[in-house]
Amino acid sequence: MFTANGDYSLLQGNYLFSEVGKRAAAFQAAHPDAEIIRMGIGDVTRPLVPAVIAAMHAAVEEMGAAETFHGYGPDHGYEFLREAIQKRDYLSRGIDISTEEIFVSDGAKCDVGNIQELFSRDCIVAVTDPVYPVYVDTNVMSGRGGRYVDGGYERIVYLPCTAENGFMPEMPKTTVDVMYLCYPNNPTGAMLTRAQLQEIVRYALQNGVLLLYDSAYEAYIGEPDKPHSIYEIDGARECAIEFRSMSKTAGFTGTRCAYTVVPKTLQYRDTFGNTVSLNAMWGRRMATKFNGVSYITQRGAAAAYSDEGYAQLQSVIADYMENARIIREGLQSAGYTVYGGVNAPYIWLRVPHGDSWRFYDELLERHHIVGTPGAGFGRAGEGYFRMTAFATRENTIRAMERITKG
Ligand code: MLT
Repeated sequence: MFTANGDYSLLQGNYLFSEVGKRAAAFQAAHPDAEIIRMGIGDVTRPLVPAVIAAMHAAVEEMGAAETFHGYGPDHGYEFLREAIQKRDYLSRGIDISTEEIFVSDGAKCDVGNIQELFSRDCIVAVTDPVYPVYVDTNVMSGRGGRYVDGGYERIVYLPCTAENGFMPEMPKTTVDVMYLCYPNNPTGAMLTRAQLQEIVRYALQNGVLLLYDSAYEAYIGEPDKPHSIYEIDGARECAIEFRSMSKTAGFTGTRCAYTVVPKTLQYRDTFGNTVSLNAMWGRRMATKFNGVSYITQRGAAAAYSDEGYAQLQSVIADYMENARIIREGLQSAGYTVYGGVNAPYIWLRVPHGDSWRFYDELLERHHIVGTPGAGFGRAGEGYFRMTAFATRENTIRAMERITKG
């Protein structure tokens, strides 16, 4: 008789952003006239830039003619896109990454979830706390979480990041095998210095820990001295996988395109004692389970890397970061303590009474604004609240007016 995967029964409630959306929808249904401003899920509002649209139109035309039609694409993504990524994101920063180490995919969320197929089942996973819930939930789904006790999974090692430690994780005191990092950080908006990242890489090399570095918000780094890639750090090619996304960089949340870098220098033992290459394993996994991102989308993504597309995107990103400034200053003038919003499109504020779901309800009921409660990101997120800078300028200003007027 079929038995379902019991690990799913260990998951707690809904996926965070589904829950946030569901509550907002219930409020809207009960108050049809309320003009709700959505600053919960980090979804972009600006349209695709003209260079991307032009490239996608041209690709559609190609698909309509027998001579230029494309069927299945290459397993790792089209070479034209991987070369564009390699050149702008790595070679331009003096980082040596080959196109064979770049795997194009349909999203960083999928990749950070799927990558754990490369881990053995008993790997001990460490995450920062608060944390992007996908890292935890996907490991729970595949049996690495254990029971949920006092707001956390027994087998997962949580590294608290709070205002008290400058949102910088302390390295684990117990043995871990894999560590997820997200910088610029979702949800706190914090960014590591080069020295802090070097310390983490040193720890990983000394302890045989695989680092999973989610850099989906890299384009939002505002301070000039901050590292844009973990591979700027000595030794990272021997211990880290990096995830990047076009979602927030090029407005592709609905279009879907991302990539993952798996260096060939990542060599580990498997459960049988063989030495294996994670690059080869990930290549095998992608070839077996994925048929690639559409040609049209990859052409659009490549256009985002052209000089014209890149310049257009810088102006969109600057615009969102201006929203971040408006939110930070608006909240500060209303008396809140705020963090983030300088190297990331997220503002992390302290909830005066400490109960972040209660604050969610109050903000929605009093001001018709949706944000994300810190508790949804983990125990150490309780007492904080996240707002995104991705709303339109008009809505960002309106939201701050509603809050500052009380
Ligand atoms: C977020 O709001 O944290 C992100 O938009 C979620 C995601 O990228 O999957």
